Amino acid sequence: MNTFYVLLCMCYWFLDCKAEKKDDGLGIVGGEPISITEVPFMALFRPIGKQYHCGASIVNDRFLVSAAHCDSSTPMDITVGTDTAESGGQRYDIEKVVVHPLYKLYDYDVCVIKIKGTFRFSDRVSPIQMAQPNAEPSNGVMLLTTGFGDTMDNQNIDSLRATSNQLLGVKVPLVDREVCRKTLTMFEITERMLCAGGQRGKDSCKGDSGGPLVEKEGNVYKLVGIVSFGFSCATQLPGVYTNVAALRTFIDEVIQKNS
Ligand code: ARG
Repeated sequence: MNTFYVLLCMCYWFLDCKAEKKDDGLGIVGGEPISITEVPFMALFRPIGKQYHCGASIVNDRFLVSAAHCDSSTPMDITVGTDTAESGGQRYDIEKVVVHPLYKLYDYDVCVIKIKGTFRFSDRVSPIQMAQPNAEPSNGVMLLTTGFGDTMDNQNIDSLRATSNQLLGVKVPLVDREVCRKTLTMFEITERMLCAGGQRGKDSCKGDSGGPLVEKEGNVYKLVGIVSFGFSCATQLPGVYTNVAALRTFIDEVIQKNS
């Protein structure tokens, strides 16, 4: 009997690790369909020929930003200009992915992606401005996060996946870092992280990683975060996002060096 439970635990542990590290097949919980023309900076970053994926954001005509934990040793590509994961848009090969040298689950969870060639901008493909160094959004402000994939938390059980082919978006409030530290006690919440959400049923989830967390200022969006991690999805616990303002200098340096 005991052996059975030990095996069951090991099995869950294995599935969980697999899900966290590579199998990012899930997505936004409690969101609404959103058109690519509303968020034309939204991109898919995925291993070629695999089902699971991450998001990314276009920041200029050759570069995108995503999460470091999305990078994989299998060849990956970028798709832009579509709000359906399985069709449409333009596909680009990747020239290079630069992961933050200090990245360690999940601190400094950022990577910069350089595509081969250049994006052709249109109403469906265009770059987003990034938060200025050290200019974080204010607590309580409503932010938007978008992604493709699952619409419910599935406890990492493959057969329960409800992957959405349609791009979804959900609004989540920015949570004060100190408050977040007190709620997400199982993680070390660093200055390189932003917490957002905490409303049951509304969250990003696996498969949204690497995708944008944006603030709307008038009619323009600004990239303030990158979907990074969470404890399960859509509970009362906030999701954790890479803090773009804290890593902006790194992102700019990589772009400069590789342009
Ligand atoms: N680590 C996940 C991914 O790789 C993202 C999880 C976000 N979780 C959350 N509760 N907001 O896709």
